[in-house]
Amino acid sequence: MINFAHRGFKGKYPENTMLGFEKAIEAGADGIEFDVHLSKDGHLVIIHDETLDRTTDGNGLVCEKTLEQLQKLNASKLFPDFEVQKIPTLREYFEFAKDKDIITNIELKTSIIDYPGIEGKVYDLIKEYKLDEKIIISSFNHNALVKFKEIAPHIKCGVLESSRLHKPWEYVKNLGMEYYHPMNFVVNKEIAEKFAENNIGLNIWFGKADYDYSIYLPCKPSGLITDYPDIVKNFLD
Ligand code: G3P
Ligand code: MG
Repeated sequence: MINFAHRGFKGKYPENTMLGFEKAIEAGADGIEFDVHLSKDGHLVIIHDETLDRTTDGNGLVCEKTLEQLQKLNASKLFPDFEVQKIPTLREYFEFAKDKDIITNIELKTSIIDYPGIEGKVYDLIKEYKLDEKIIISSFNHNALVKFKEIAPHIKCGVLESSRLHKPWEYVKNLGMEYYHPMNFVVNKEIAEKFAENNIGLNIWFGKADYDYSIYLPCKPSGLITDYPDIVKNFLD
């Protein structure tokens, strides 16, 4: 089972920062999840929200700032005691991850802003770093996943969902995707068994709360995406 750190080690470090990714690996994560957007000048940047206000000392839309402007910001607003953290680029992350034995889950954050061409840009970089086998692309925007598959059919994709779909295993199978990424509340053992019967992997994600993640082990998930990779590591050991 892959122990994915959600936005890095989000529970204890600034989310979607290189520090959070490094600390996740140190804590025992063997997977990292993060979110990508496009800057005004077309660079792939790692940040969760469409806007800068919650997690950085900047404000306004990510897509209205150039990379140079974005990289002047401090992305550790939620952890003011930590030193300044930059908004990472996807390239910077790949430099960090390229020789590590980790699976990277890249979430295309295109539900609100449909960044034209983001799928091709992400794939070009995956190809450049030869990380094809170590990537899962996910999105709540399932059209973006279909688009990604058209560009790179061999890269594994996960369907993100937080609603209670009717027969989600049929939906995911029809889309031709390899994984279902449900929020924990919308999955149970019966649903999980249907995914297993259909050879579709299950990576369950959790919001920030004090969950006992281990209660989901009977679902035999292929991965858990949590804010606390240290807790998951403990019970996996
Ligand atoms: O990929 C799982 C999770 O990251 C989806 O929700 O809002 O944290 O990106 P969010
Ligand atoms: Mg995400």
